[in-house]
Amino acid sequence: MHVDSTGKVSLDHIYTEPTPLTYFSTLRRLEYRIPQAAKPHFEGLVEDYRRATGVAVPRILDIGCSYGINAALVKYDATMDELYERYCDGPQSHEAVLARDREFVGSRTPRAVRFVGLDVSRPALDYALAAGFLDDAVHADFEEADPTDRQRAKLADTDLVVSTGCLGYVGEKSISRLIDAFGDRRPWMAHFVLRMFPFDPIEEVLTDAGYETVRAEGLFRQRRFATDEERTLVLDRLATIGLSPRGREADGWFHARLFISRPREETRPTPIEEK
Ligand SMILES: C[S@@+](CC[C@H](N)C(=O)[O-])C[C@H]1O[C@@H](n2cnc3c(N)ncnc32)[C@H](O)[C@@H]1O
Repeated sequence: MHVDSTGKVSLDHIYTEPTPLTYFSTLRRLEYRIPQAAKPHFEGLVEDYRRATGVAVPRILDIGCSYGINAALVKYDATMDELYERYCDGPQSHEAVLARDREFVGSRTPRAVRFVGLDVSRPALDYALAAGFLDDAVHADFEEADPTDRQRAKLADTDLVVSTGCLGYVGEKSISRLIDAFGDRRPWMAHFVLRMFPFDPIEEVLTDAGYETVRAEGLFRQRRFATDEERTLVLDRLATIGLSPRGREADGWFHARLFISRPREETRPTPIEEK
């Protein structure tokens, strides 16, 4: 398997198929699980946001949404195990897979959120929209170009921004362009980022825009290493940034951290008035 410049095996080919079948069959072997680990944290953030702002149906932007996986989990209460079973053990034709997903979406009572997916993969977005996981989509690469007026309009009402398995490749350029597109709004954010990718450059952009970022406690297993070569290269990379893999990556798993960013005025305790 080919490794990219970060030392990870390149899985680019699985992101651009017309259905999620190859994505799930490849990642099942690697026990990819970060969307499942993220689910309760995203749900908690939605609840906190609702309580703090009174917004009943928050609009969530999922960066690198792929086939709408976080939306399937959070909005339609799917589980990764369920999706693995459906895509790997069920019917394999495009029509049949899509029909099953539509049936699934139609059978659930959706949570009161709207999901907008952002991805560079047109086929993945098309599938997620056709299945009904996503309410809207932005097909763009904000590492490379500014949002168009049409894309800005779709981003303007964002309440929350989330990501799994994407930041690291998507970096401060995209975050900066998104913040610019949000105008005066400051959507809350929650990003799961592999330890091998320093979050500092993104945090700096967020801080300059008025955010305070807090790292949640704990680490989250993302997936198993695909090959010995990948393991060696990732452990080397961690060593160069001064992180010990003991009890974590050394056991064979990529580990992610969760960063939660909110506008500063909404994270500070209300000052007590002096008498
Ligand atoms: C590992 S997948 C993660 C998908 C999903 N969030 C999950 O956890 O299952 C990474 C996704 O990021 C997308 N991606 C890569 N570079 C991107 C960019 N510059 N802007 C938006 N999406 C990008 C890929 O197309 C792919 O769908």
